[in-house]
Amino acid sequence: MSTATSPAADLPASLPRPNANKLLAIASGKGGVGKTCLAISIAHALARRGRRTLLFDADLGLANVDIQLGLMPSRDLGGVVTGRLTLAEATTPFDAGGFDIVAGRSGCGRLAGMPPARLALLGEQLLATAETYDHVLLDLGAGLEQTVRQFSQLAGSCAVVTTDEPTAITDAYAFIKMAQADRTPSAMRIIVNMATSRRDGERTFGALLRACESFLKVSPELLGIVRRDLRVREAIRCQTPLLTRFPTCEAAADVEAIAARLPAA
Ligand SMILES: Nc1ncnc2c1ncn2[C@@H]1O[C@H](COP(=O)(O)OP(=O)(O)OP(=O)(O)O)[C@@H](O)[C@H]1O
Ligand SMILES: [Mg+2]
Repeated sequence: MSTATSPAADLPASLPRPNANKLLAIASGKGGVGKTCLAISIAHALARRGRRTLLFDADLGLANVDIQLGLMPSRDLGGVVTGRLTLAEATTPFDAGGFDIVAGRSGCGRLAGMPPARLALLGEQLLATAETYDHVLLDLGAGLEQTVRQFSQLAGSCAVVTTDEPTAITDAYAFIKMAQADRTPSAMRIIVNMATSRRDGERTFGALLRACESFLKVSPELLGIVRRDLRVREAIRCQTPLLTRFPTCEAAADVEAIAARLPAA
């Protein structure tokens, strides 16, 4: 059961959560470590493997998925929150990538400040929507705010993104610690992004793993290492998916390897 201090008291961990194992939350703690571009690229890689995939922009109020893809969706989460749209109606097919998107709305205070009960309802809708997908990826915001915590609790697993910077490692550790304190049922896995090399990525993972084992007594798995690659920035600048623009670059290969490790639920 969730503790009294848990932000997701409406979603007790002990209750069965149908489809939760299809939800993968991309989290970090620290901002700017590559959550959004990894969420897009992993969704794209899964779609290329024939998986029915939904990418949900859970960075409420500071949404970026549509911006990185150069989309101007006519329907988004704003309509869901005001009750005008169901989640299914707010879903937009992203034909170029072969996956669906629920876009957020940047600068929308109503979304950013959604009360926990309303957020819990949205979570239930998301679990129901997951019925028609193999994977639902949640692009979370930075920080450890309530929205981040509630979405983390909803997902069957969290991919915690870090880079080699001490601040990113510390914040990834803080995220895992918070999840433990919240009794989040999600499995924690690590993605090291912007690694100088695979070896450096393994070193970064090792540092985070040691801290988790020493102080939290948990051993999160390594989900993957994505190398630093200038093509990522170039693809974002052109508002084109990385796997479309540079399908054979190093970062694309690393993302494909992550997708290969995600079994269809
Ligand atoms: N593998 C990579 N190689 C090089 N640059 C990268 C890589 N991954 C991400 N970046 C750079 O990091 C920047 C931040 O990425 P992104 O916006 O996806 O991060 P974020 O974690 O979602 O940020 P926020 O916390 O603000 O939502 C991108 O603009 C891109 O230039
Ligand atoms: Mg982002």
